[in-house]
Amino acid sequence: VVGAEEYRSNLFPWLAAQRRGVVVKRVAMPQGALPSSALVEAITGDTTLVAVSLVQSATGYRTDISAVATRCAEVGARLFLDATQSTGVLPIPAGVRPDFVVVHGYKWLLGPRGAAWMYVRPDRWCETVPIAPNHKGTVEPWAEYYGGPLDLAEDARKLDMSLGWPSWAGATAALDLIGGLKPVEVETHCLGLAQLLRDQASERGLSCLPSELPSHIVSVRGGSPSILAGLTAKRVRATVRAGTLRLGFHAFNDATDVARVLDALEAVA
Ligand SMILES: Cc1ncc(COP(=O)(O)O)c(C=O)c1O
Repeated sequence: VVGAEEYRSNLFPWLAAQRRGVVVKRVAMPQGALPSSALVEAITGDTTLVAVSLVQSATGYRTDISAVATRCAEVGARLFLDATQSTGVLPIPAGVRPDFVVVHGYKWLLGPRGAAWMYVRPDRWCETVPIAPNHKGTVEPWAEYYGGPLDLAEDARKLDMSLGWPSWAGATAALDLIGGLKPVEVETHCLGLAQLLRDQASERGLSCLPSELPSHIVSVRGGSPSILAGLTAKRVRATVRAGTLRLGFHAFNDATDVARVLDALEAVA
């Protein structure tokens, strides 16, 4: 089970599995929304795995994953979370025990492209098969580099990859920075700025796409290339996706950034 309009890196792997006979059930996502009720409804006794982004890339929509996790546990389906658009700002909700979590570090973890992580719950290690086994997947990767046998580790190490070193040097610096912040403070700060943007946009007659749970990414309806140009002139980086203007907040933003966004929006209105 997967959202039909998920970011492709969390959709194409499942669609590719169709070649192996896997049946992929795609849940409709009108206006980029993936409510937990739609996912829960799609999960049946036959469901093997549910793959979902905690926050949608296109719109910032944040699904309430707790109900989905409960339903997965009821039917014995695995829960695969893509936390790329949330980790660094938002936590995985307390009480949710995902089977798998993936996160790429170049979004909210502020790292360079190329450093990414996958968490596999220990009782699921036996269910994972490395598709590209390499020297890093053995128990002692630094002890032997040549020849067989193919003695992969039994734990998650068997899935490890040879590292692209520059990315990981950058990731280490980024994690040092993020690790020095208090997660709850970052979450509260970013959600507060997002709410401020929503409130002030609505006071000016602009509407935003809804989200099931508060999200640090806000999509304002009516995005256009000229609005984007106006924002760029004010040194605000944003994206237009399917006619909405997508803006996100991190720890380094403050209320003056919200004001600059609203000024730029007003200037082109
Ligand atoms: C939900 C989600 N998953 C994954 C990624 C990263 O994908 P990739 O590792 O293919 O760059 C992104 C990037 O925008 C994303 O939004």
